[in-house]
Amino acid sequence: MSTIDIQAVSSKTQYYLDLEEQFGAHNYHPIPVVIERGEGVFMYDVDGQRYYDFLSGYSAVNQGHCHRRIIQALTEQAQKLTLTSRAFHSNLLGEYEQFITSYFGYDKVLPMNTGVEGGETAIKLARRWGYVKKGIPENQAKIVFAKGNFWGRTLAAISSSTDPSSYLNFGPFMPGFELVEYNDLADLERALQDPHVAAFMVEPIQGEAGVVVPDEGYLAGVRALCTQYNVLLIADEIQTGLCRTGKMLACDHENVRPDILILGKALSGGVLPVSAVLCDDFIMMNIKPGEHGSTYGGNPLACAVAMEALRVLKEEQMAENAEAMGQLLRSELEKLNSPHISLIRGKGLLNAIVIRHANPEAAWDLCLELKHRGLLAKPTHGDKIRFAPPLLINAEQVRECVDIIAAALHILD
Ligand SMILES: Cc1ncc(COP(=O)(O)O)c(C=O)c1O
Repeated sequence: MSTIDIQAVSSKTQYYLDLEEQFGAHNYHPIPVVIERGEGVFMYDVDGQRYYDFLSGYSAVNQGHCHRRIIQALTEQAQKLTLTSRAFHSNLLGEYEQFITSYFGYDKVLPMNTGVEGGETAIKLARRWGYVKKGIPENQAKIVFAKGNFWGRTLAAISSSTDPSSYLNFGPFMPGFELVEYNDLADLERALQDPHVAAFMVEPIQGEAGVVVPDEGYLAGVRALCTQYNVLLIADEIQTGLCRTGKMLACDHENVRPDILILGKALSGGVLPVSAVLCDDFIMMNIKPGEHGSTYGGNPLACAVAMEALRVLKEEQMAENAEAMGQLLRSELEKLNSPHISLIRGKGLLNAIVIRHANPEAAWDLCLELKHRGLLAKPTHGDKIRFAPPLLINAEQVRECVDIIAAALHILD
């Protein structure tokens, strides 16, 4: 795949790579490094090499690897009770529900596990509201998405995808999904005029698409249009939320309150899959017992971990640090003035560079060189590389990382 030699790996590393190659599905194409341990902004491979983590588990590890308080919450709860299913109550579920709804200012929460389940849940809630409250005729509800969206890999999620590697040869697809241009309020307004539209589901910044930041005013405009046409605004903050972009939610940059908020990833600090869908009673109370759920959703272990993960974000002022360190990172990258970087974009610590090079494998090659120099990042969509370290990174570390990036860029000369 790479045009430079895959840099030699140790026999120990090769052993683990071979195991995955032989026994695992080939549904990912990872950087050839085998991680054994994580701590704060660092990860360590099986040979003891230290790396800056510039991906943070796709923003799941915002609080840093193995955050002491989160791991303590996990281990303490793990010794008491881990799962009841929702057939019975647990002493933690109600406390967690009270905690997270007051934290984000919604009437109710529906707890799930993975992000994509959060998305599915939000769409079910919106469809149900569309039928019983908006009066959409049976089976005709539409959900509008923006082109370039990514919210996971289930059949519903790929049904809204514009990326052939997501949807090709997996049809037939979910009906009732429509697409509009991202960052285009006129196109959205055209779509919302259809009275069968129940919701517009959108990422405040498109993460997987390569950290596509919409124009200022877009989110506020989306909010106004959704209100005007009686359409629910679903914000997918699974990647952008929880301090990643320099505010608790990316929607906060424009003081936008979505009707339905989806959270995941860093809701557990990277410890276990925890997602949540928040909304007010006029939407949530249309779901009755037996109409939605999940065996693990709202389990006591997840409740304990999520409460501590949320407390850590606020008490350690991670939004403020993400904002300051993001500005530093982007300005230091600008100063490099590299001919190989055509664009630097992002908000807070959700950033990407776009590589300019004749070789289509240049971004991959650069990531291998970054690995060699002690920084782990991964290309997305060929020419983009996301720079999204854990939110506790400090200024000295940001500068060291930019030095690593500057040195690595020379392999593209
Ligand atoms: C914006 C967004 N939504 C949803 C998801 C799906 O989350 P999960 O992989 O936990 O199902 C992702 C994953 O990258 C995401 O970035």
